[in-house]
Amino acid sequence: MSYLGKDTTFTWLGHATFLIGTPSGHKVIVDPWLEGNPKCPKEYHDPGSIDLILLTHGHSDHIADVVPLGKKHGCPVVTNPEIAHWLRKQGLENLIELNKGGTVEACSLQITMTNAHHSSGITDGDNIVYGGEPAGFIVETENEFRFYIAGDTCVFGDMALLRELHNPSLAILPIGDTYTMGPREAAKAANLLGVQVVIPCHYGTFPALHGTPEQMRDALGRLQVQVVDLEPGQTLE
Ligand code: NI
Ligand code: MN
Repeated sequence: MSYLGKDTTFTWLGHATFLIGTPSGHKVIVDPWLEGNPKCPKEYHDPGSIDLILLTHGHSDHIADVVPLGKKHGCPVVTNPEIAHWLRKQGLENLIELNKGGTVEACSLQITMTNAHHSSGITDGDNIVYGGEPAGFIVETENEFRFYIAGDTCVFGDMALLRELHNPSLAILPIGDTYTMGPREAAKAANLLGVQVVIPCHYGTFPALHGTPEQMRDALGRLQVQVVDLEPGQTLE
């Protein structure tokens, strides 16, 4: 298949968790939900050394393993200021705060925080703590490969602006429906973004996340977008 991300690898750990290998040899984990994630293969409950954590929002199916991984590896966590504040209170020190429109360099990557339409409360005991606004990320590698991690969101028209500004060639999109967009909206998102490749996620974890890659392919019709549905534990390289 025509995959343009030279030397960047994507391993799906189920749900919204991805392990990304970068051209400079760094390992980045996105929205780590490991042991509690029913789709995460056992061999990835400990994903090995991690250089960077990207966190899109405060929901437990995304933040669950940020504190243990951050403490174990001392690696930076890129997230919004409210979640960073909460993580600091949990004992993490290496936090990179970013808000929408901002770009930071970490592990030889240019990381831009983007909009997402969703919610972001952090479940803390019996309370839900304000977790700022949910986000996505545009990531550019040192060899100028750009990809988009949508986070949990519906489709929105300003995905066309992300195309204009960043022109990503690959997008990681939720397709499960119920808590995020479903396959039909994801097909529209791929169209607005102008990407060549989509890795679907946030589906199949439990029955409410019923959208499927097949439904997305149907919705894409004749649009030239490759939907790469990985098995949990499988890597696109
Ligand atoms: Ni969420
Ligand atoms: Mn979620």
